[in-house]
Amino acid sequence: MFDIQEIRSQFSILDQKVNGKPLVYLDNAATSQKPDSVLEVWNKYYTEINANVHRGIHTLSQLATEEMELSRRKIQKFINAEHDFEVIFTKGTTEGINLIAYILTQKLKKDDEIIISYLEHHSNIVPWQMLCERTGAKLRVIPMDENGILQLDQFEKFLNEKTKVVSVNQVSNALGIINPIEEIIAKTRKNTNAYIVIDGAQSAPHFTLDVQKMDCDFFVFSGHKMYAPMGTGILYGKQQILEDLPPFHGGGEMIATCSFDGTTYAGLPFKYEAGTPNVGGNIALGAAVDFILKVGQENIQNHENALLEYAQRQLLELEGIKIYGEKANRTGVVSFNLDGVGIALDVGMILDKLGVAVRTGHHCTQPIMDFFNIAGTVRASFAVYNTFSEIDALIEGVKKAQRMLS
Ligand SMILES: Cc1ncc(COP(=O)(O)O)c(C=O)c1O
Repeated sequence: MFDIQEIRSQFSILDQKVNGKPLVYLDNAATSQKPDSVLEVWNKYYTEINANVHRGIHTLSQLATEEMELSRRKIQKFINAEHDFEVIFTKGTTEGINLIAYILTQKLKKDDEIIISYLEHHSNIVPWQMLCERTGAKLRVIPMDENGILQLDQFEKFLNEKTKVVSVNQVSNALGIINPIEEIIAKTRKNTNAYIVIDGAQSAPHFTLDVQKMDCDFFVFSGHKMYAPMGTGILYGKQQILEDLPPFHGGGEMIATCSFDGTTYAGLPFKYEAGTPNVGGNIALGAAVDFILKVGQENIQNHENALLEYAQRQLLELEGIKIYGEKANRTGVVSFNLDGVGIALDVGMILDKLGVAVRTGHHCTQPIMDFFNIAGTVRASFAVYNTFSEIDALIEGVKKAQRMLS
């Protein structure tokens, strides 16, 4: 049974007024709110357990280690990785992609090619540009059409023996478009030996995941967008690939032996987890996975899809609303502008006065904004706790913005 009021009651933060109005939080693609169960686990760690992991004989250290490793196994199951040591704790998607781009440096040479898509977040663009600078490799970008749909016939033409990396997101943060990663992965496997990286920042909170079935080499996501604390994230990598590639950061935890004559590295996952990890956050990420599984991923997806459909239908009933990616297959994000009326920022400010939190601007996807020749959009993005009456509040706010700005 999907009981929205029961779900909302688990998010104390939602029960407040902003600017004198009930908070309507529709900025979930930027970060989600955290259920009390996650905050309790995080708080319990700091009030009852706090100790460094893996290096202590004392009881608290052992407890902290057990809890963090239990969380790793929960995440292993959540993404269906074959081994728990293929799950690396990071501080988020950005760190995950930078890590991958760094450790691939020795595998690329001048004129090799890295393929990304037009729909990427800056964190899946810039680390690859930096890798190109280090190696002389070239970046190729899968084009999209005016609906934001990636042109896979073009992508297929890009694939050749020079293709060393293909890195795309499963869901676009700016437009909510679900990309055909199954097809992208299949075509890449068929035609190349490239490493396949999937940015799951916007899919992990919403979809059922199976990295083995997906057959990607790397899958990265952020905890804070899926009901866990900030500063948490996951990098999944296939065992053989992670074993073959060099470490990222050097330091404590990632060594097997260390002397002035040289160092040997620890096995997985520790080889990629130098330094003290975010123990409390990583444990709380496991609690966020528990929350998602308890609500049910299918329930989450159905509810968010219904919200999307409702929001889109109502927005399109208004005059002069342009929704970007309107005709594409999307998940709970609606990105729009008011035709010829003010700028996205003005709309966002008016909505904020009404207690409605949306994001405005380029959403760290400037190439998409350039494509549509706009500075930014108003983006409303949904999570499991959002309601239809909150969408009504959004629509009322948009109507008010139209009146005030025209
Ligand atoms: C698709 C996508 N990739 C990467 C990121 C970067 O995530 P983080 O800032 O948590 O590292 C985001 C954040 O919005 C995103 O939506």
